[in-house]
Amino acid sequence: KFSIVIAGGGSTYTPGIVMMLLDHLETFPIRKLKLYDNDEKRQHMIGEALKIVLNERAPEIEYTYTTDPEEAFTDIDFCFAHIRVGKYEMRELDEKIPLKHGVVGQETCGPGGIAYGMRSIGPMIELIDWMEKYSPDAWMLNYSNPAAIVAEACRILRPNAKVLNICDMPVGTLRRMSQIIGKTPKELDVRYFGLNHFGWWTSVKDKEGNEYLPQIREYVKENGYLTQIEVDTQHMDPSWQETHKKAKDLLAVDPRFLPNTYLKYYFYPDEVVESSNPKYTRANEVMDGREKKVFSTAREIIEKGTAAGSEFAIGSHATFIVDLARAIAFNTHERMIMIVENNGAIANFDDDAMVEVPCIVGSDGPEPLSQGKIPEFQRALMLQQVTVEKMVVQAYIEGSYQKLWQALTLSKTVPSAKVAKKVLDDLIEANRGYWPEL
Ligand code: G6P
Ligand code: MN
Repeated sequence: KFSIVIAGGGSTYTPGIVMMLLDHLETFPIRKLKLYDNDEKRQHMIGEALKIVLNERAPEIEYTYTTDPEEAFTDIDFCFAHIRVGKYEMRELDEKIPLKHGVVGQETCGPGGIAYGMRSIGPMIELIDWMEKYSPDAWMLNYSNPAAIVAEACRILRPNAKVLNICDMPVGTLRRMSQIIGKTPKELDVRYFGLNHFGWWTSVKDKEGNEYLPQIREYVKENGYLTQIEVDTQHMDPSWQETHKKAKDLLAVDPRFLPNTYLKYYFYPDEVVESSNPKYTRANEVMDGREKKVFSTAREIIEKGTAAGSEFAIGSHATFIVDLARAIAFNTHERMIMIVENNGAIANFDDDAMVEVPCIVGSDGPEPLSQGKIPEFQRALMLQQVTVEKMVVQAYIEGSYQKLWQALTLSKTVPSAKVAKKVLDDLIEANRGYWPEL
């Protein structure tokens, strides 16, 4: 049985993950569950509500929540990390500041992602150091954003740490693909190459070796990845429906492969900006939606003293976390798309780039599967983007304004060095206290 700490325990994602874990106790047994957050108030709400849930569902699990790192990281096998440095107030600025200058405003792509990366590196490294100090054998399953920059920072600053970087986006898109062809994700093996939030599927096969990419392509050409079942059953926010639909325009640019939906920020930044409301962004949607909903459910549970009648939703999309933890714990050799150092997995791409590729995951971590050579179009796009990510980490370490300005200038989402500077200067102002002095 395993001991887990969830870092970012006061997050509104945490209840969904705990509910998902409770659903998987037979295949992933838990002896101890701890929530850790540095925000006392949020941690208290989510922590108290989940205490009631756990008491009713699995009283045998030893449960605590805390804001003390030593308590959190002592005697754990896994840390599930999903921290959001600066929370939604800062996400809002990450989105609104670039938009004010006519640039894509998104939490992980473009200047917003760069700003968020600059905030996240320090606290991520802090978490890793606590884990290594108090539970040196533990693994961190990290899905904190912006995953690409965070992963690069881990590579440079803590190269030997047992950190597994993973994103739910390929998982979610594969689920949609499997619905399109009437299969389940577990019945499919994919080939994929790219960077985080920046990649392409080159093959989707069943276990008998039948290739489904052409069939999926026909569907995506018309509908993007949007499947009706999902719209009906998951009550997907309109902005996400738009993103999944938009994949058809990404596919049109290169019909050979199936694109990651976030490529829309790089291929169609002008359209993204036009259709954005600079006064009401995704951060506002989430604050008015998920944040309110989860906290009000928490309040209800606490007031009633029981979870009966006001259950947290299961984060069913988060089952990849259990798959990954099981792969490490039980050496399952599950095939999963992860963010790892390239080292030849993409033959004609830099060895030291953090790329997103399928890996076989066992007790020693991920072993990347070779994806061969990639076409020059994707290679050039990836080189530009990965260089942005590397330069952000260098700018963070060196405290270099110049490098960060270059990184913004290099981002495909930013039209000129002049605009890059304006956006950067506003971001510096907004991120005082979060970023190192530049
Ligand atoms: C996808 C991405 C995550 C991102 C999330 C944002 O799942 O893979 O990296 O955090 O979308 O979703 P939200 O609902 O907060 O806009
Ligand atoms: Mn992601």
